[in-house]
Amino acid sequence: MLLRVIGIGPGSPRQITLEAVDAIGATDVFFLLDKGSRTSELTALREKFLTEYGAPGHRVVAIADPPRDRRPDDYEAEVRRWHAARVDAVRAAVSEHLRPGETGGFLVWGDPALYDSTLRILDQLAARDDVSVEVEVIAGVTSASALTAAHGIVAHGIGEPILTTTGRRLSATPAGADANQIVMLDSDLAFRETAAPDDLVYWGAYLGTEHEILVSGRVADVTAEIEEKRARARERLGWIMDIYLLQKAR
Ligand SMILES: C[S@@+](CC[C@H](N)C(=O)[O-])C[C@H]1O[C@@H](n2cnc3c(N)ncnc32)[C@H](O)[C@@H]1O
Repeated sequence: MLLRVIGIGPGSPRQITLEAVDAIGATDVFFLLDKGSRTSELTALREKFLTEYGAPGHRVVAIADPPRDRRPDDYEAEVRRWHAARVDAVRAAVSEHLRPGETGGFLVWGDPALYDSTLRILDQLAARDDVSVEVEVIAGVTSASALTAAHGIVAHGIGEPILTTTGRRLSATPAGADANQIVMLDSDLAFRETAAPDDLVYWGAYLGTEHEILVSGRVADVTAEIEEKRARARERLGWIMDIYLLQKAR
């Protein structure tokens, strides 16, 4: 069976690619893996994409996330068990709802290659002996591209490398690899612990949406502004998605 993993961009109705639009139109059944997403606005955008670009008669199937023990005695064993349960849930949904010759689809925010588990789940499904699965991936505009475009910047100095990481791992970046870092999944603004006052931060929240907020400047100058705008927006909207680029002072 053919399963498509379709990157749909970071939240703007205009940042979906033509390839993704075509892929949505050629898919029979969409499987929603992420509990209907965190926010009603993002859920509404996904529904809009399916309504506008989906073929007549396409079907949508929600796959409930299996329960997970957040305080297990053996953390790694529990994560392995939970991952296997997610693969089982996808397998059951796909076998029940995909008819012979039909194509299944998974819509993924941004690009499927960055901090998203859909491809890992499908790889594990494909590795099982009892199912024949072909996976096709459609690239999406990632929130990292949306961030640098919104600020109108190149992400690094001439010929320099760039590291993409998470807030939890930011403090573990080795010295020398920290000239340019894109930081995702950071609910604590971890740069406050790692950055020097002269480093530059380019921060963006709700990129591509009507709520987009951008702040940039020296860490010493703009940290308080980011903290304040982040807290206020989060309180007002009830959710936040933000990302930033951190550049070492040169
Ligand atoms: C689970 S990861 C998924 C990333 C996604 N696959 C991508 O390519 O952007 C979610 C993180 O992406 C970032 N993100 C996604 N969409 C965003 C947006 N519209 N504005 C700001 N940050 C966003 C945030 O750092 C968020 O914590």
